[in-house]
Amino acid sequence: MEEVALASVPRAADGLSLSPLAGVDTSATANRPTGIGELDRVLGGGLAPGGAYLIAGEPGIGKSTLLLQVARAAAAAGQRVLLVCGEETPEQVRSRAERLGGIPAELWATRANDVTAVVAAIGAATPATVVVDSIQSLTRTDLPGLPGSVGQVRGCADVLVRAAKDQGVTLLLVGQATKDGQVAGPRALEHLVDAVLWFEGDPSCSLRLLRAAKNRFGPAHEVGCFTMTSEGLREVSDPSRLLVADRGLPVPGVCVCPLLEGNRALLVEVQALVGPTSVPAPRRTGAGLDGQRLGLLVAVLERRAGLSLGGHDVFAATMGGVRASEPAADLAVALAVASSFLDAPLPPGTVAVGEIGLSGEIRATADLTRRVDEAARLGFVRAIVPAGENLPASPAVPLLPVRDVSDALRHLERSSHPGSRPHVARRAHAAREGSST
Ligand code: TYD
Ligand code: MG
Repeated sequence: MEEVALASVPRAADGLSLSPLAGVDTSATANRPTGIGELDRVLGGGLAPGGAYLIAGEPGIGKSTLLLQVARAAAAAGQRVLLVCGEETPEQVRSRAERLGGIPAELWATRANDVTAVVAAIGAATPATVVVDSIQSLTRTDLPGLPGSVGQVRGCADVLVRAAKDQGVTLLLVGQATKDGQVAGPRALEHLVDAVLWFEGDPSCSLRLLRAAKNRFGPAHEVGCFTMTSEGLREVSDPSRLLVADRGLPVPGVCVCPLLEGNRALLVEVQALVGPTSVPAPRRTGAGLDGQRLGLLVAVLERRAGLSLGGHDVFAATMGGVRASEPAADLAVALAVASSFLDAPLPPGTVAVGEIGLSGEIRATADLTRRVDEAARLGFVRAIVPAGENLPASPAVPLLPVRDVSDALRHLERSSHPGSRPHVARRAHAAREGSST
């Protein structure tokens, strides 16, 4: 139904041009830096002229702010930028732009909801860059469905991407996403655009992460870091420092993990809370973590390390709204859960990294040296890592290699103070014996 509607859109009547691939001119398509370093890192140097980009994220995360900053920077450099305001009025956008530091002469705006009018405005304004905020606010009168429906969103994006490509205009589309990522938008648009950037973060905290999920013009999986301030988004060049709380005393239920995000090593704190359940099916809830993976790790802790978590709810979360999707985060999650359950902290200054298999074995992880270097840089003093032959010869901090989860849990016991925590010693002993407490 949708496909038929899309196919019936008249295409621009270009004559076919044929040439040897080596003869295709690429001089005009080099990425142009936006001047926002963290964004350029994610884009692979900057925006490609004629490229179509989707910037997706939940409402309130800062998409409009980011694109207004990009638009201001480009306009200040003398390139015409057209803002298509579908959600806010140009008056609102103007006052926001003033708060962000003023309005360059080449920054233009129009209020539009009909995609045909937007295409006409692009033709009339001849901008170098167009920002459409948001794709869900536009409609195509020749298609059925409400604004924001999958058919409308795809139909509008299709027309805009083609118009922008025809005119060599860089197109930045805002895509609203919902909490569960199930969007009438971003997911439905991925194949229409050249790059998809997800803007994420915990709304209660100022850190924002920008990730490339797809990028035809540069690396994918690179991450850019910002904080939301009263003067807009500010770049963060050292996000690990923001993400890892500086604690004097060790706290049970906490474990820090050095993750890799593209070229960047990022220290992420995982916290867990384990407590007796009051419902028949105990909860295993993850925030910033995959819930299924958490359930699996809890099962491994039960079966392979003898922790009787059956009657307990397990909550685990990453701090700062970072998503820990790398399997290398497994060991830190398992240690945080076990640490909370046993009420036994890790020794201060410890990080842990490694993927956990179903039999409880800890698997080798890529680029251990970079992870350990990042931990050392931020003052950590030891790293629990997968045992194996390929350990770095001269690591930046002492390594504690572990073969399986029970092996890893021994590092919790060592840090507890049997005198002040008798129940911990008892539980840990029971866990070793494989019985329940
Ligand atoms: P916004 O860019 O409107 O989010 P989105 O377009 O993704 O829905 O910004 C969201 C929040 O950021 C909003 O609650 C206000 C806040 N904000 C600041 O804290 N400082 C600023 O300078 C700006 C422009 C916004
Ligand atoms: Mg917005």
